[in-house]
Amino acid sequence: MDKHDFLMPSGHYFGSHSAGRPFADTMAQFQQDYFQPWGGDCCDPWGEWLGQIERFRAALAALFNVDASGFCPQSNVSSGLVKVAMALPQLQSGGTVLLSEHDFPSIGFALQQALPNGAAQLRFIPKGADLTDANVWDKHLTADVALVWITHGFSNLGAAAPLAQILPLARQRGILSAIDLAQSAGVLPLDLAALQPDFAFGSSLKWLCGGAGAGYLWASAPMLSQCQPKDVGWFSHQDPFEMNIHQFRYHDQALRFWGGTPTVAPFVFAAHSIERLSAFGIDNIRAHNLSLQQQLWQGLGERVLSPQDPGKRSGTIIINADLTKLKAAGVFADLRPLGVRVSPHIYNDSDDVAALINALG
Ligand SMILES: Cc1ncc(COP(=O)(O)O)c(C=O)c1O
Repeated sequence: MDKHDFLMPSGHYFGSHSAGRPFADTMAQFQQDYFQPWGGDCCDPWGEWLGQIERFRAALAALFNVDASGFCPQSNVSSGLVKVAMALPQLQSGGTVLLSEHDFPSIGFALQQALPNGAAQLRFIPKGADLTDANVWDKHLTADVALVWITHGFSNLGAAAPLAQILPLARQRGILSAIDLAQSAGVLPLDLAALQPDFAFGSSLKWLCGGAGAGYLWASAPMLSQCQPKDVGWFSHQDPFEMNIHQFRYHDQALRFWGGTPTVAPFVFAAHSIERLSAFGIDNIRAHNLSLQQQLWQGLGERVLSPQDPGKRSGTIIINADLTKLKAAGVFADLRPLGVRVSPHIYNDSDDVAALINALG
């Protein structure tokens, strides 16, 4: 797999932390799987459309090595988080949520508004703490914490949280865990069966190359049975076609979080790209990503601001660079407070990296 399998803009695209590029056959697939059942010679698209959503859930199940029943389609990470925060008795009765000041701001906004006023509390690991160090998490996972939010890949730091060390700590202390996969799914290999978090949230937009709107939440089986979502609709019902307005029964799968008539199109795009990336292998994508990161380290030396240890890096590398010079050389990257974000995906090659290094002289 390389850049010829994707629709690439001209120049050198390093923006996978923002929007991964679509596969070249995306529109043909969409025509076949979404439009044909609707606009073709068939009167009811729903059988095919719901099948596409099942395909999306199955693709996630294969990607993360868990059963598809734990996944519920969502539009984005925030919507999934609000639904879980409002459904989880441990938070509605006033527990403390531990998160970090480096988490994506939407996470803080969603929790602030979804948790009961005055009862639940947010506690932040402050900026400056080394989030790649399990000891930092160890220190903050105190007895009063009900749930810890762990961002796996921090795109503004170029750093990865050590999930395999943090999650057992949380489990031993009876602390629930939620992981944010928005910046890691598709570039950092992930095995939910081995990691055993309580919840996971993600989107398909970035390294999964699936476009906007195909988010997901995942809940472990014991958590599912405890959650009573408030934001429901007929697709959250165990049998949506029962059609008895007086009797609501939660779906026994994660679909209890689903809601009313679902969107379909984003999941058609995403199912296709997740299947293709999984078939190629996330280990292979990570190996390629690290080899291009290494080339950047060799070419730029101390201009690189993200962790030197490859095991502590996310897919993104942060560099101290003049964005206007990069733009002039046709290199697409973007600027965040700590530096310029550069995200080498499977459609980048060593020529792209050489162009970036040359642009900075
Ligand atoms: C780590 C992380 N989580 C979440 C999001 C986005 O959240 P949402 O899907 O709710 O827009 C981003 C966006 O860049 C992110 O980097």
